[in-house]
Amino acid sequence: MEKKYLFSPGPTMLPPEVLLKMAEPIMHHREPEFEKLFAEIREGLKYLFQTRNEVLIFTSSGTGAMEGAVSNILAKGDKALVVRGGKFGERWGEICKAYGIEFIPIDVEWGRAVDPKRIEEALKADPSIRAVYTQASETSTGVKHPVKEIAAIVKRYENAVVAVDAITGIGVFDIPMDQWGIDVLVSGSQKALMLPPGLSFVALSDKAWKFVERANLPRFYFDFKKELKNAQKNQNSFTPAISLFVGLRESLKLIQKEGLAAVFQRHEKLAGATRAGVKALGLELYAPESPSNALTAVKVPEGIQGGKLKNLFFEKFGITVAGGQDQAKGKIIRIAHLGYYERLDMVMVISALEMLLREMGHKFELGKGVKAAEEILMEQ
Ligand SMILES: Cc1ncc(COP(=O)(O)O)c(C=O)c1O
Repeated sequence: MEKKYLFSPGPTMLPPEVLLKMAEPIMHHREPEFEKLFAEIREGLKYLFQTRNEVLIFTSSGTGAMEGAVSNILAKGDKALVVRGGKFGERWGEICKAYGIEFIPIDVEWGRAVDPKRIEEALKADPSIRAVYTQASETSTGVKHPVKEIAAIVKRYENAVVAVDAITGIGVFDIPMDQWGIDVLVSGSQKALMLPPGLSFVALSDKAWKFVERANLPRFYFDFKKELKNAQKNQNSFTPAISLFVGLRESLKLIQKEGLAAVFQRHEKLAGATRAGVKALGLELYAPESPSNALTAVKVPEGIQGGKLKNLFFEKFGITVAGGQDQAKGKIIRIAHLGYYERLDMVMVISALEMLLREMGHKFELGKGVKAAEEILMEQ
């Protein structure tokens, strides 16, 4: 018999409540039933994003809203600052390039968080920078970047905004958009929102909406102004992924029922247990100084191939974990704990890791990782 489990940092496992709702007969998106659904979702998203501004929804993967965060914010000739500490930081740069936007990269060693001072220095040195692009949680390395500090710096520059890709941050750890003064906040459905891939989200501060007025890059589908106008009428500009909206109402209800503070605490606990578990097996974290609570990136021990370990997870236990990308390929595995995960899920994945490492010849005391994780999970 084979059971399947997703421990990849997107897509993630889905709650049965969400799955069942999405299996209901589809409704029409121009009818009152959908408008009512949309109105509820709008409120739920504001709660999740901790903003009083509108959270726009696009039927696309997360990159769609990222692209919109460039094309709707900048004008021809504007310059951007891009924090590049992994695959997704690189993506901000690639999007800028596609739109002919010159950008200054702030290159960060993989596994480390950006030093906010570097952003301050860059903004000071070049007053023509109009936007700073960063991740809250860099999924390719498992790093959490200091978004609060970055936002506080950018706030002092009237002519610049900060855009944060929080695709694996929203619903995982606290990112109070309005309180911290984040100008553009992006997320996606297939992570802590406990939905399949297919929706992207973006909210803008008042300052960012002023930037939209002067932005003049080409855009059509990801047109924030058009989408805002329609959202205020509980409509989408185009045919939305209706079933995902139905699932979204349910997942937002689950998040609201648990409460954001409890959601963040749960993620902290699961992340803490996973880190303790792998360290007890003699493994090292890839992002030891600033680990994200969304996922744990672990260096595979000397002599063991990361790709092989990842494949064995699936072959032996039906568990999908993620491997490393680019320079981290073969060197790390990434274990997710964002969204629909609970304490025993982490015990299971660490137990599987122990059995596989033992089989692959890594020397350690069997049960030590599980014990370390359990000790954290039992803390009140
Ligand atoms: C931090 C981060 N940014 C961007 C993306 C890209 O999102 P998508 O693949 O949904 O376009 C992901 C998804 O893996 C991500 O984790």
